[in-house]
Amino acid sequence: MSAQIIQAIRGMNDLLPADIPAWQHLESCARELLAAYGYQEIRVPVLEHTQLFKRAIGEHTDVVGKEMYTFTDRGGDSLTLRPEATAGIVRALISNGMLRGQRHKLWCLGPMFRHEAPQAGRYRQFWQLDLEAVGCPGPDADAELIAFSARLWQRLGIAGSVKLQINSLGTADSRRAYRERLLQYLGAHHARLDADSQRRLEGNPLRVLDSKNPDMQDIIRGAPLLTEHLDVESRTHFDELCAMLRGIGVSYEVNPLLVRGLDYYNRTVFEWITSSSGAQNAVCSGGRYDGLIAQLGGEATPAVGFAMGLERAVALMLSAAGAPAVTAPDVYVVVSGAAAARQALQLTERLRGERPALRFELNLGGGNFKAQFRRADRSAARLALIVGEDELARGVVAMKPLRAEGGQSEWPIADLAAGLDAALAAAGPAAARG
Ligand code: HAM
Repeated sequence: MSAQIIQAIRGMNDLLPADIPAWQHLESCARELLAAYGYQEIRVPVLEHTQLFKRAIGEHTDVVGKEMYTFTDRGGDSLTLRPEATAGIVRALISNGMLRGQRHKLWCLGPMFRHEAPQAGRYRQFWQLDLEAVGCPGPDADAELIAFSARLWQRLGIAGSVKLQINSLGTADSRRAYRERLLQYLGAHHARLDADSQRRLEGNPLRVLDSKNPDMQDIIRGAPLLTEHLDVESRTHFDELCAMLRGIGVSYEVNPLLVRGLDYYNRTVFEWITSSSGAQNAVCSGGRYDGLIAQLGGEATPAVGFAMGLERAVALMLSAAGAPAVTAPDVYVVVSGAAAARQALQLTERLRGERPALRFELNLGGGNFKAQFRRADRSAARLALIVGEDELARGVVAMKPLRAEGGQSEWPIADLAAGLDAALAAAGPAAARG
């Protein structure tokens, strides 16, 4: 009887070697830009006390109410796999005594976990690149974060696939006043609200505005708008942000219905959306959360940030430009004769030390000459280095260009690195494996 195959958990994906070049390209562009903008990396645990997410994200949100991976550990503590990074980063700032009036520009990259219904672009384990600017109250911090994201889209070649929506949620006080008006309005239409919206009405009526249900759109269109009830300071902050975005040439659309699914936001919220991935159209979302740090027990510190969904960004990159090519090795080492294997390993290791920038692929596990040359060809290497018993006996190895014209040549082992340089120069530029 054959052993039963164990499947991966639904909504949790393997990233296979063929997927990796696009991810690495995204990550290296992002790292370069993060350094250029003065952001520092922070790595926080994947597990936190459940209470942290409940207090930070809000009990009435979908994330906390329906989507968290929560369990009791062996010590009896309730722990949760992080559904997002902001709460953990704020916890780290507080528990490591990093606030004290200081400013921090931080980034974090890693997997997040939400028990959502999996579909294209929506997963149960997904990756985020998260940025947080802590200690900066003004709209300049919001604008710089947005500028960062806009520049990243450009570098990734997907600027044409995304557009920016922004809104202001005002302060907690102005939102409370607006909430009453909205409740009155929605209460008057109670019978026409779908089940989800009726549930949201209790905890967070603003989220009703976020409903994607087509039957709800009429009611939503008639609702009073938060933007019409902003306090003066939030209005000024928002107007200044808009002016700054225009100043740096970032186009945006004000979407008064953009409310976000996490409770900690105030003032600026924004989303980069795309139409190409169906309903899961937010590639990058964030906003200001001036009250969160105090709410979690830290000294009151304003902050703003966003997180980008990497699966969604990679999908856009692939549809814009296709998969980046895998870099081929420079040299494929062919081993001729069983006794040559030890010498071939030794020589390849020597060359790896002498020429650290070159990529060597040593033929492992034997195989006849023809099979090895087939592998060498498939690897798209520029040069074959042939380590054979006969040649070794004469103190030489052979080299043969694989992508350019030219016959086999021999070179003394003692002077191998110099011979390799010459042979590679004649063998033409590095190729890419498709
Ligand atoms: P969020 O909107 O919940 O915000 O998630 C940010 C991004 O993560 C989304 O725009 C989307 O691209 C991606 N994402 C979310 N859920 C999934 C999923 N199930 N599958 C694939 N991608 C997903 C936050 O997480 C906030 N912490 C952002 C933030 C940082 N706000 C301030 N600082």
